[in-house]
Amino acid sequence: MIDRPTVLITRKIPINGIEILRSKYNVIINNKDRPLNRKELIKDVKGIDAILCVLQDKIDKEIMDIAGPNLKIISTFSTGYEHIDIESANIKGIRIGHTGNILTETTADLAFGLILCLGRRIVEADRFVRESKWKNGWCPDLMLGTDIHNKILGLIGFGKIGKAVAKRAMGFGMEIIYYKRNKQITDLDKNIKYKAKYCKLKELLSISDYIVIACSLNDDSYHLIDMENLKTMKKTAFLINISRGKIIKEMDLVFALRNKHLAGAALDVFEQEPIPKSNPLIRMKNVILLPHIGSSSYSTRSRMAEIAAANIINVLEGNDKKALLVQK
Ligand code: DGY
Repeated sequence: MIDRPTVLITRKIPINGIEILRSKYNVIINNKDRPLNRKELIKDVKGIDAILCVLQDKIDKEIMDIAGPNLKIISTFSTGYEHIDIESANIKGIRIGHTGNILTETTADLAFGLILCLGRRIVEADRFVRESKWKNGWCPDLMLGTDIHNKILGLIGFGKIGKAVAKRAMGFGMEIIYYKRNKQITDLDKNIKYKAKYCKLKELLSISDYIVIACSLNDDSYHLIDMENLKTMKKTAFLINISRGKIIKEMDLVFALRNKHLAGAALDVFEQEPIPKSNPLIRMKNVILLPHIGSSSYSTRSRMAEIAAANIINVLEGNDKKALLVQK
């Protein structure tokens, strides 16, 4: 009898992904409602053929060494793969799978939801009613907010998610401008579709009413939004981050919000996740805080599970070309 390969699933993902893998392999799964700690990961990873991991799992050389020579693929249940040591994996010939662009539209939905919540004070208004502060019925100046239509949306990053946000903004009659690191001339043609205009970062920051961070985290974008850039924003403008927390220098944002350099912010991602109780953002009124739920819809998370499982099957069966792999 041939031994079935063993797959370690480090966190309960939607059941469809687990069942796909169970039908073919021995599956070890972390059934706890939290990520594995380092000690547990080290214990579980020994001798396995594939890892299906999540963003919180630091998959470095040590983990790959402990897994041993059978490890052929690390498939992350995410689009981002900054938690995996790509260089060590490449040296060892271990493939890295991810979930590609499947979350684009769902994440753009959330970004747009946050624009609406900030501008029209939706979260604040809900709290106001629940806290029995609504005493006098309809009121001429209650919860006055900022329009969305006819306002300027500034997108930092104009990849798939940025464009998906732009598509939604067009429906709201917003003016769209964008900044991206590598602007290519060919973009001019493509962006006619979104009626979006390229701007230098400083210009974008100084004229936008809503700024959405939709670029990926890299050496150039790390702490891109710091005090100097925050001070460039209009005092009436809002900042939304649905990308990675480390793009904003968080303590600078706290200072800028306290000192009213901008009107408010909505953050789905943070420098440290979950945010510690001591993080001043928790006590601030002009921010909306979400627990990293950009891709969190039933259908997208279920597709992510399917893709993460399929990446493992394709690599273990020698069909690398069919897998969604991080380029070497
Ligand atoms: C990702 O996949 O990288 C998101 O941040 C979480 O879904």
